[in-house]
Amino acid sequence: MTIEKSVKHVASAWKESPYYADAERWTHLFWGNGTIFLRLFKELPLDNVIELAAGHGRHSEQIANQCGTLTLMDIHQENIDACRNRLGHFPELHFILNNGYNFEPIAAVSISAIFCYDAMVHFAPDVVQSYIKDTHRILRSGGMALYHHSNLSAPGTNYAKNTHARNHMTEELFKSFCDEAGMEIVESIPISWGNVENLDRISLIQRP
Ligand SMILES: C[S@@+](CC[C@H](N)C(=O)[O-])C[C@H]1O[C@@H](n2cnc3c(N)ncnc32)[C@H](O)[C@@H]1O
Repeated sequence: MTIEKSVKHVASAWKESPYYADAERWTHLFWGNGTIFLRLFKELPLDNVIELAAGHGRHSEQIANQCGTLTLMDIHQENIDACRNRLGHFPELHFILNNGYNFEPIAAVSISAIFCYDAMVHFAPDVVQSYIKDTHRILRSGGMALYHHSNLSAPGTNYAKNTHARNHMTEELFKSFCDEAGMEIVESIPISWGNVENLDRISLIQRP
């Protein structure tokens, strides 16, 4: 399968979905005091930040006034429009429709931090690999990325039929993508999702 097909297979489910309204009730799982997400997010240098796969912007809303610049990226124009409607009044925010597998048109060595929550868990391994490679291109030295990704070993399956629609990913595979991209893993922690123990991981990675 080409990478464009891998992208499309997952992305088509997220053009319009009841998920976006429903997810607003669960935003505290990422930003509540004492969560692993918040502890690791506090490690990120917030000068020039990207949120990948921003959906309707519920995460960027939490941090819009803490970042030097903040760029929200998503593969669907409908989501970019929703983010702009919600957060367009913040002067330092930018909204970019991307191709689903890299951060173009972001310039090399221009970003201090990237984060992606509740989205990469669905991405096919080749798409995760491509984003990690491009993470190295756009981060400055010492820059960090915080990726919430799948920890479900399910090679060759249709992700949509897996538990909570998790795609195939393992600690070892994620680490091999980081190694080949020149990214270092600072922390990678298994987490439960929807009462399924160790279904996901949250990984903080750094460009040396
Ligand atoms: C489950 S939603 C999560 C949205 C947001 N991160 C949140 O937590 O509210 C998945 C998001 O990933 C986006 N998406 C899916 N495939 C993508 C890809 N290959 N590249 C970038 N965004 C993608 C969808 O458009 C959608 O906004």
